[in-house]
Amino acid sequence: MDERFLLMIPGPTFTEQSVLLSLARVTRSHVSREFEDVLRESLDALKKILNTDGEVIVMPGSGTSAMEFSIANFVDQGSKVLNLISGYFGEYFVQATKARGGVPVEVRCRPGLGFRGKGIRELVEREGAKVLTVQHVETSTGVANYIKEIGEEIKNTETIYVVDAVASLGGMEINMREWGIDVVFTGSQKALAVPPGLAIIGLSKRAVELIEEKKRELFFFDGRRWLAMMRNVRNYFSTMPVNMIYALNESLKRVLSEGLENRYLRHKVVAEAIRGGLEALGLNIVADKEFRSDTVTAVWLPENVKFQDLSNEMMRRNIVIAGGLGELTGKIFRIGHMGVVNPNDAISTIAALERSLSKLGYPVKLGSGVEASQQIFNKYNL
Ligand SMILES: Cc1ncc(COP(=O)(O)O)c(C=O)c1O
Repeated sequence: MDERFLLMIPGPTFTEQSVLLSLARVTRSHVSREFEDVLRESLDALKKILNTDGEVIVMPGSGTSAMEFSIANFVDQGSKVLNLISGYFGEYFVQATKARGGVPVEVRCRPGLGFRGKGIRELVEREGAKVLTVQHVETSTGVANYIKEIGEEIKNTETIYVVDAVASLGGMEINMREWGIDVVFTGSQKALAVPPGLAIIGLSKRAVELIEEKKRELFFFDGRRWLAMMRNVRNYFSTMPVNMIYALNESLKRVLSEGLENRYLRHKVVAEAIRGGLEALGLNIVADKEFRSDTVTAVWLPENVKFQDLSNEMMRRNIVIAGGLGELTGKIFRIGHMGVVNPNDAISTIAALERSLSKLGYPVKLGSGVEASQQIFNKYNL
């Protein structure tokens, strides 16, 4: 495969040239004023995207380390954590909770379903949950949970609301302030379209206060040390990945210059067009209609089509797709449509899928999926 391929996976996503080139700038000292300015600009941009009056921490890592940070700083030994699990990454929260001495209260739904707000407050109160965790987008199924509704349900309770936005932040709206989210996190390599390597954590004012009040037995993940360094880089604790912050800063500038509303609309329309194309080909989408995300779509593999064969055929056509995770391995394929994805990417993907499936013996009327996608883009004048 040459370099001209489309990365239609749910992360890492395509990185634009200006973002890549910013990695190549001369590395400044991690305690210099020059670096501090870039970091400050990035944190301010992230606060805008997250709609928070609180603070943001950026550290080397990924979605998983951001998740562990979020649990480690808010879960006490023996305290109950309500884990709303809609798939593979929901289970990560259970493991992180256990690893940090919390007691998970596990609520699962079948693949394709997600969680809405109704009943969540009763559940939290009945269980005495100190923390609630949920994915915004569950990447393994393409499900979007109703994090706004859940937040509104548990507002004004003492329960700390932790949202995994690894597969949504930068592609779908998040309003920490209005939705009562205390902690939200992502990795750089998803809808923010930066190479892998950064963990990004947004904190509400309450979450910041809780971190500051309580001395925990933490070292690398000690939120107090990170907050101090974010406020002033000369509060050195651990060397920041300076060039990655340059790249993040460049990407965030691009996000804000596109405009958040435009960006979210682009994701919504591309998602709709991809799903329209898939359904026109007679394929079945894993997520129920009510729960479909704007950033990733999981699709049941047709009978007699193996993921590896489909993936190879797509690769031959320069398009990378993802397979299933956990219990869905070998049963589904996934298309990521986040970051800088555009209508041409969507149409190329559907077109390549038509030829790939056809090659594998699945009956396809060539052009039918593309036509459906085109109609949707046309409806939005794109
Ligand atoms: C929803 C969700 N949570 C957590 C993770 C783990 O993130 P990472 O692979 O960056 O550690 C992922 C990765 O795809 C994810 O999609």
